[in-house]
Amino acid sequence: MSTNTILEKYHTTFSKNEEFAQPANNIFPDGVTHDNRHTEPFPIYINRAQGSKKWTIDGIELIDYWSGHGALLLGHSPPEIVDAVTQQMPLGTHYGACHALEVEWGSRVKELIPSAERIRFVNSGTEATLMAIRLSRMSTGKSKFLKFAGHFHGWHDSVILGVNPPFETPVPGIPEGTIDTTIICPPNDIGTVEEHLKSDPDIACVILEPTGGAFGTIPTNGEFLQQLRQITHDYGVLLIFDEVISGFRVSPGGAQVYYDITPDLTTLAKILAGGLPGGAVAGREDLLDFISIKATKSTSRGKKMPHPGTFNANPLSAAAGIAMLKQVKTGIPHEKVNRSAKMLREGLVDVIDQHKLDWAVYGEFSAVKFLIGHGVEGVRAADFDPYNWDYRQLKGGSNSELTMNLRCGMMLNGIDIAGNGGMTTVAHSDADVQQTIAAFDQTIGWMKADGLLD
Ligand SMILES: Cc1ncc(COP(=O)(O)O)c(C=O)c1O
Repeated sequence: MSTNTILEKYHTTFSKNEEFAQPANNIFPDGVTHDNRHTEPFPIYINRAQGSKKWTIDGIELIDYWSGHGALLLGHSPPEIVDAVTQQMPLGTHYGACHALEVEWGSRVKELIPSAERIRFVNSGTEATLMAIRLSRMSTGKSKFLKFAGHFHGWHDSVILGVNPPFETPVPGIPEGTIDTTIICPPNDIGTVEEHLKSDPDIACVILEPTGGAFGTIPTNGEFLQQLRQITHDYGVLLIFDEVISGFRVSPGGAQVYYDITPDLTTLAKILAGGLPGGAVAGREDLLDFISIKATKSTSRGKKMPHPGTFNANPLSAAAGIAMLKQVKTGIPHEKVNRSAKMLREGLVDVIDQHKLDWAVYGEFSAVKFLIGHGVEGVRAADFDPYNWDYRQLKGGSNSELTMNLRCGMMLNGIDIAGNGGMTTVAHSDADVQQTIAAFDQTIGWMKADGLLD
């Protein structure tokens, strides 16, 4: 029997963080600066991070699986990136001019991503998908685009539709006209995609996360990607791979190299900029040339996509990005992160089955996905098949009572992982993984003692 519930222990152990949360609530909506950081009963505050770990304001050590929302392939503050940024800082953070670092950064992207004939740097994944869709519209003269339920491409008007269940519900604040130009398809359903492409001549592009919605929460596979490449080609519709997470993580050349498929446009961010802000659109020269003043003048089409952006390819992000892509090129990080994620998934699955819960842990590459209640009668975690699970049962947000207690219990056991899972980095050691599995076991034990689980 536990003498205190998980939430009582959380309030006591992280009390200094609770005090910190009070003023934050008077500054930010919900006291946070990103929806996913909304944490009940209150968030933790971090003031230092190194390798696989981070420390709260009161010095509590946590193994971190947020991994910079996927940006930190090498873990927190790897020496190569710290050196690159530290050397660049006194040399200037914004030249208001072209610079050598952006050329090296761009040439490294070109070297790794085979479809990248041309590149334009932006500041985030959201900006990258905005640009890629607009370029598609300009080049095809069509206005609609097709996306998949549960696939996340940032938060600008068009792409935020269909991200969270119920997927058909319009997102408030988005004009009808934009909603009308967004076609949301069930994931992995090539037949429905083809029906749309056949019946609607006004579709400019199809965009997707090539490893499946939210980095494989709703997984996809190479066969579907091949089919999609073929039919988009057949119907003259552009294919955009949103590789904001998968790019440089799934393989040095991203999902497109892993699955050997050439998209027309690719969106990149996160790892691209080595843990600093930054993004890019890469792809066919004729498409990126819609940004070019020279190309606009030399062709008869007479239309150019305006593209300013104060911090595009800023020298600090470029320096960090170069240092990161040097490591990416070796392919060593990918072997390491995939191996530790697999070890972690297997260990967590065993724990779930020992406790006889209807939970699942799954994922590919460096992803560790949690499903707290898959609802399929009699299916053990070891046999759970995310391909044959109805994705419409996904719950938006992660603050149900169970996920809240799981998250808080894991933090009390030294692990910070979201209610829907996390990602590994090069810095996660085998000992970290074993500690995480033990923490999961302990937390589930506490949840049982608190009467939350049978
Ligand atoms: C696949 C994908 N696309 C786009 C985005 C948006 O990127 P950003 O948060 O840099 O705007 C994300 C962010 O998580 C993402 O995972």
